[in-house]
Amino acid sequence: MSTRFESAPERIAQHRRYLMCRPEYFTVSYRINPWMEPSLPTDTGKALAQWQTLYDTYLALGHEIELIDPVPGLPDMVYTANGGFVIDGRALGVKFRVDERRGEERPFMDWFAAHGFEVVEPRAVQEGEGDFLLVGDTILAGSGFRSDPSSHREVSEVFDREVLSLTLVDPRFYHLDTAISVLDPVQGEGGVAAATIAYLPSAFDDTSRAMLERRFPDAIRVSDDDGAVFGLNSASDGLNVLLSPRATGFAEQLRERGYRPIPIDLSELLLGGGGIKCCTLELRGTR
Ligand code: ARG
Repeated sequence: MSTRFESAPERIAQHRRYLMCRPEYFTVSYRINPWMEPSLPTDTGKALAQWQTLYDTYLALGHEIELIDPVPGLPDMVYTANGGFVIDGRALGVKFRVDERRGEERPFMDWFAAHGFEVVEPRAVQEGEGDFLLVGDTILAGSGFRSDPSSHREVSEVFDREVLSLTLVDPRFYHLDTAISVLDPVQGEGGVAAATIAYLPSAFDDTSRAMLERRFPDAIRVSDDDGAVFGLNSASDGLNVLLSPRATGFAEQLRERGYRPIPIDLSELLLGGGGIKCCTLELRGTR
């Protein structure tokens, strides 16, 4: 047992600032991903209580949380990862593929502007940090279901960073943040950490899988079982990894690499096809 821990690099918790949205109007009234079933009942009180546990856990870990007011009639607004993509105080707004969520675009851009971010209006269809993830100085960008491939060039120009385009092929994993988890963005390529990302190989096409293998040879590859319970939709501060309690294999893989898994149950929010990461937008820059 101890040998595994001896070989794992020391992990360091990094301070995070996140944007979240209380699920006051959460329900499933339409179906825009395979997890959503409008005929099944939802429990808004339960969603609120589960969300509160996530919020409280971030605070207990010393992170800073900003809140955006929920808007009646926009039940998916709780998934703030889709509200934008923010680096160095610059916020790229989003343009949803689906009409049901287009009402969220303006409230998010207004929030960024009111909080000192430089807002960039999007041109191509893309769903923010749902499909864009920052690892070191590289942006991993997903397409296949929601964000348009043409948004990858746009995000590269807006942030002047290299973009690695990845194609998703399984409708259950329709956003990149359901198939890749960034565990440590700081110790990116060439760093001391043995694992900076985790991913679900079966969610990608062959070309993307080959690219991930080449760029992240030490990544954690998560099993289909752990992927199917939304295990990859987790949030890490470089040490603490908040993840679904059902992703037990992934939790063990994390422990072996020196991370500290913290189970958080968002089963009610999974009825909308979202999990921990979906409810969390990272705010990088401005302080
Ligand atoms: N019901 C929402 C949708 O289908 C869930 C979004 C989940 N967000 C995420 N970042 N994966 O758009």
